[in-house]
Amino acid sequence: MKVRSAVLVESGRPFPYGESRPLEVRELTLGPPGEGELLVRIEAAGLCHSDLSVIDGSRPRPLPMALGHEAAGVVAASEAAGFAPGDHVVLTFVPACGACPACAAGRPALCGPGAEANRAGTLLGGGNRLGGVFHHLGVSAFSEYAVVSARSAVKIPPGLPWEVAALFGCAVLTGAGAALYAAEAGPRDSVAVFGLGGVGLSALLAARAAGVTTLIGVDVVAGKRDLALALGASDVVQGGDDAVERVRELTGGGAVKVVDTTGVAAVLAQAYAATAPGGVTVTVGLPSAHAGLTIPALSLVAEERTLRGSYLGSCVPRRDVPKFIGMYEAGLLPVDRLLSDRLRLDQVNEGFDRLRSGEAVRQVVILR
Ligand SMILES: NC(=O)c1ccc[n+]([C@@H]2O[C@H](COP(=O)([O-])OP(=O)(O)OC[C@H]3O[C@@H](n4cnc5c(N)ncnc54)[C@H](O)[C@@H]3O)[C@@H](O)[C@H]2O)c1
Ligand SMILES: [Zn+2]
Ligand SMILES: [Zn+2]
Repeated sequence: MKVRSAVLVESGRPFPYGESRPLEVRELTLGPPGEGELLVRIEAAGLCHSDLSVIDGSRPRPLPMALGHEAAGVVAASEAAGFAPGDHVVLTFVPACGACPACAAGRPALCGPGAEANRAGTLLGGGNRLGGVFHHLGVSAFSEYAVVSARSAVKIPPGLPWEVAALFGCAVLTGAGAALYAAEAGPRDSVAVFGLGGVGLSALLAARAAGVTTLIGVDVVAGKRDLALALGASDVVQGGDDAVERVRELTGGGAVKVVDTTGVAAVLAQAYAATAPGGVTVTVGLPSAHAGLTIPALSLVAEERTLRGSYLGSCVPRRDVPKFIGMYEAGLLPVDRLLSDRLRLDQVNEGFDRLRSGEAVRQVVILR
């Protein structure tokens, strides 16, 4: 079938993207779903910094690639057990095979074949349904329809606004999972979140839902700090060199749990420095593969520190997408507040300019 998709034709084009237009809306020929795959009519797809990192070249991927990896839609055709036409689904960005050692250990975010397919720009198992254009993280959702592995899809209850549902595929899984599973934030912890984009604010909301009362948001953009306060942060701090000292003052020596979502290695070093002895620093940021990190080695031992990364919020999507949707419906995780703009497909380049400048939190392309 013919579908309109936003395709990244070249990375590293100059800003603004509204002029250089790295994403072209093209008509592609989408092949039918193979065994274990679904045809999904995409309703809404979010713009994430991980798309931007492919566009600006800091995360190189095979091109041309149809971008977009955070989405919700309706199953239009199913070649997979457990899914039928009409099912509502959220798409997530690690197609977990279910059989490799990581999957067997209950850590689908680390699925080996899933990572291999994502690096290669194919669906799980190696297939390409886009006539030679590569798939982005098994999803490619800036498109009227997508063919995905059923292992990229999670069934959701009907009734959620599509633009809200889409956020659960990446921002909410990653941010809420980082706070609840990787940092294990609880009522007695002081928590600081560095970076208040879609992922960071999801972490902040989840920490609040977990009963955290000393909850500090750090960002360089004033509007994001204001939003963090409106969403329940107890304090906000301007990002920059003084941020470490401010967090240490506000917490009496460092936050017990710190989540870094900036994707900037130098800020991860600040997040580590702002963590209390005995505390945990979690990062979900994806800096360039060449960026290094220097921390005082002694502090790990002498201060019993933990530094850990978290991919996909260390979540199990089939368990956690429904769980986080339930929290949203109970009013505990008001992630609809993260939505800043609704875009048409042909406005994605301008949308990525707004994400890059810090003007927007989570923007969503509405496909119909
Ligand atoms: N680990 C995962 O599974 C996963 C999933 C999704 C996104 N990511 C990554 O997480 C990061 C965040 O994604 P996002 O979509 O929320 O991005 P975003 O651009 O919306 O948010 C990043 C925020 O960091 C802020 N920031 C930049 N420099 C700062 C500084 N010096 N101090 C404080 N704040 C600063 C920005 O102003 C922005 O608000 C990206 O690196 C993205 O690639 C990882
Ligand atoms: Zn993402
Ligand atoms: Zn696996």
